[in-house]
Amino acid sequence: MNQTATIEAPAASQPDEARKPAQACSIVIFGASGDLTARKLIPAFYQLHKQKQMPPDFRLVGFARREKTDAGWREELRQALEEFSRTKPVDDKVWQDFSQHICYCRGDITENEAYPKLERQLASFGSEPLRQNLLFYLATSPSQFGDAVEQLHRAGLLPKDGEPGWQRIVVEKPFGHDLESAHRLNAQLTRYAREPQIFRIDHYLGKETVQNILMFRFSNAIFERLWNRDSIDHVQVMVTEKLGVGQRGGYYEEAGALRDMVQNHLLQILSLIAMEPPVSLEAEPSRDEKVKLLKSIRPLTPQDVARQVVRGQYVAGIVDGEARPGYRQEPKVRPDSDVETYVALKLFIDNWRWSGVPFFLRTGKNLPASASEVRIQFRPTPHVLFAAQCGQKLDSNALTLRLQPNEGISLRFNGKVPGLSLGVRPVRMHFSYDAEFGAYTPEAYERLLLEAMAGDATLFIRRDEVEAAWQIVDSIREAWDGKRLSNRELYAAGTWGPVAADDLLAQTGHAWHEPVVIQ
Ligand code: BG6
Repeated sequence: MNQTATIEAPAASQPDEARKPAQACSIVIFGASGDLTARKLIPAFYQLHKQKQMPPDFRLVGFARREKTDAGWREELRQALEEFSRTKPVDDKVWQDFSQHICYCRGDITENEAYPKLERQLASFGSEPLRQNLLFYLATSPSQFGDAVEQLHRAGLLPKDGEPGWQRIVVEKPFGHDLESAHRLNAQLTRYAREPQIFRIDHYLGKETVQNILMFRFSNAIFERLWNRDSIDHVQVMVTEKLGVGQRGGYYEEAGALRDMVQNHLLQILSLIAMEPPVSLEAEPSRDEKVKLLKSIRPLTPQDVARQVVRGQYVAGIVDGEARPGYRQEPKVRPDSDVETYVALKLFIDNWRWSGVPFFLRTGKNLPASASEVRIQFRPTPHVLFAAQCGQKLDSNALTLRLQPNEGISLRFNGKVPGLSLGVRPVRMHFSYDAEFGAYTPEAYERLLLEAMAGDATLFIRRDEVEAAWQIVDSIREAWDGKRLSNRELYAAGTWGPVAADDLLAQTGHAWHEPVVIQ
């Protein structure tokens, strides 16, 4: 909190001593022509290479349908880097060296012949680790995950006993579209790969500030002791976005905000905020605790959904002075779509620590600000002492974890307004990552790729975790099925969501908090 404390920021290139070193390996990206590869994966690998965090030797193989040469693909990636690298300009010397590790394999993920061809390409690599340590990144449509894994297995590239070397697959969300499909997909994947070989991504877990949640909770005695129903009145988790659906209408029509954001990012943040301390920071104890937490969320009946969950959809409006179309006018969206672009919900966690404490979650597109925050609202003190002078207006303390942007933590408490009379006003202390540690904030994908190469699954989602999250989301989805959106569920782009979301909190005397503004 205290901005005068000085703590050395790690040099960007300093390898993390606690992390297992990544061994030499080959990384195959399925869906190499796609957006994710250009925007996230290649910039992250480039950055890791620049920081000397990549394994001692590696090959990056792009696998996609289009005909391309190695040189042609490298040229495309170079252009993408110019646009998407988080450090600019692109360092020519680093790029020259990095690009030597990149090659291309033309193939159709749905065709049997493609896999032996890939196998031959991998077999041509000089050293054993490059031929045997294999990371398959499935940046493709989820409907192709199952087949790709089966084909890799048949081609001998994904032996289930993982010998010799190691073989892993990384899969992107969405992981299924409900519990049943996630279950089916999990069964399909684990037929050809063991669970420890499967790395399911939720990119929020790669964010520095999200990783700090456990560190913050369990290394600070003053907060750790207060982290329970005795001291905390309620918790708000919000991930709001200024952007609309834009060109992703086709995907969004299938997903909606509930599947796109709540099933993964919001429930993951909630788990980290509320879970019990794991016995160690190893992958399994941490994931065990997250699953336990998800399973202690009180199940929602259709009546609960009607009372505790609000959906919304944006209509035309203005964000930052720019006119935005309504959701139904976005490309590839049905003109009578009832798909939600906003969700707010109240959950209860039925365990010893949190009994009776409401957790409010909200997320939405085309809102006035892009911000991810967790606000811990503490219980008030008795007001007797100051009631005569200040009335009943004393604010309760609040701690806000600013996950993005303006990454940091703010603490709000009351102070006497200087002067002869007894006035009180809430004031804030801010801790900012930038001021304290400098501008070193690795992009989520850098961390996640590094962990996948090192074989550490802590930041990835386990099978039972995905399924527990779907169970919660399914109960909401089912209660909404076939129900048309009402006018109270529409909100103009550029506003904070439907009126019904305010009512949800007002019922119990609460209100949504807007993101903390840092001057
Ligand atoms: C993705 C969602 O998982 O997360 C997007 O599919 C959303 O709809 C994005 O915009 C938000 O991620 P971030 O890192 O920009 O907060």
